[in-house]
Amino acid sequence: SHAQIGLIGLGTMGGMLALNIAEKGFDIAVFNRTTKVTRSFHETAGALAPKITPCESLEALVQAIAKPRAIILMVPAGEPVDEQIAALRPYLDADDLIIDAGNANFHDTERRAAEAEKQGPRFLGSGVSGGEEGARHGPAIMGGGARSDWDRVAPILNAIAAQFEGTPCAGFMGKGGSGHFVKAVHNGIEYADMQMIAETYGVMRDGMKLGATECGEIFAKWDEGVLKSYLIEISGKVARTADPETGAPMLDIILDRAGQKGTGRWTAIEAQHLAAPIPVIEAAVMARNLSSRLEARAEGEDLFGTGPEALPDGALSAEDLEHAMIAGKILCYAQGFELLRAANAPFDWALPLPEIALVWRDGCIIRSAMLDDMASALSDAPDRNLMFAPFFADLLKAHHGALRKVVSTAVAHGLAVPALSMALSYFDTMRTARGTANMIQGQRDFFGAHGFERTDREGKDFHGPWAM
Ligand code: 6PG
Repeated sequence: SHAQIGLIGLGTMGGMLALNIAEKGFDIAVFNRTTKVTRSFHETAGALAPKITPCESLEALVQAIAKPRAIILMVPAGEPVDEQIAALRPYLDADDLIIDAGNANFHDTERRAAEAEKQGPRFLGSGVSGGEEGARHGPAIMGGGARSDWDRVAPILNAIAAQFEGTPCAGFMGKGGSGHFVKAVHNGIEYADMQMIAETYGVMRDGMKLGATECGEIFAKWDEGVLKSYLIEISGKVARTADPETGAPMLDIILDRAGQKGTGRWTAIEAQHLAAPIPVIEAAVMARNLSSRLEARAEGEDLFGTGPEALPDGALSAEDLEHAMIAGKILCYAQGFELLRAANAPFDWALPLPEIALVWRDGCIIRSAMLDDMASALSDAPDRNLMFAPFFADLLKAHHGALRKVVSTAVAHGLAVPALSMALSYFDTMRTARGTANMIQGQRDFFGAHGFERTDREGKDFHGPWAM
């Protein structure tokens, strides 16, 4: 028993993570339910094979790992995780540690952490982001559970994580399900970033009549500026790739129906539970859901006439879109971080917002140049909404006009831009000291005597002289 860590589940992500661990010099024991997969994984591990012990039973895996053991689970989220924990438990000691590195719903992680407290073994829920490439060469890691358990495996997790200028993109988020909650918010932001990019692509394609390659070139240019990020970079690549069979741009032959495993939806659901406003993320989830209504959309086009109209020449420039995207992105991230903050009291967490921004700087899907500035802004004033941080407030002052121009132009020509629209409405609401909820309060008092506060007097329970 010499392995420093074990890993169960040699699917794409699990296999890549195991190779990453071996490459960083750790001895690792691996197990997959299907023995053939375990064997071929080891056979194809090349120079890393000597660091990897392939195990053909759970018992063999447990025996191969040095005590106190640490075992990473990389099995599909949901029931398979519970089944795997139950199957392992008889072989493990109370101070052995199971690390769930899949995309768990953080409520499940909370429950598993509580069960582990009662009956052992130890349990850490770790969000891991970065897709295949990240798992292989450096993901971002968001850990949750007991600090002492995190500290025990931190040397390995820090070593395999992406490194941003020498700092590992791995961090301890707090107890229970906090790591997986932070990962869910990451995915919500991921959905929103992707949606806003898709919307600017739609304006270019349908409004400005640009071809996919031209759109790709514009994204590639954005990737050299404030918007520099993995998602902009890959969007540029996606748009410039041709289908080898037909020669047509890939984008032109991909069906416009988006898949989703549900993490973005969990974020929106949780935000509603917490009464945290994240309209850009909610719009992105809505847009994915609506994208699947292909037939209804075709029926709508027949009935109401083609949606998007071409824009008049010069109505919008690529630069307008870039600036709108900058404003939209800031507003979306501001909402995401506000959601993280809103979870602290109800879950009794103290989520380290500046550190979360640091962890997201590299390795994860939403990695971007802006996150470094967000980390600085959040460490200057951890309790301030990011949109009010001087650096981002200045960017918003410079670019909210472009966001308004893009949204209003798109709306006027039938181009759907739900996420960008929500970003703009959030911005407008957040800079309107006197809003319109006085009308809501008047209505509530009228039909239900719910009472209201007054602008001119102290007190909570005033009523109107409503004529019935
Ligand atoms: C990551 C991603 C990843 C996610 C997939 C698919 O951070 O590496 O968020 O965890 O599962 O990208 O997500 P959807 O199927 O929900 O789009």
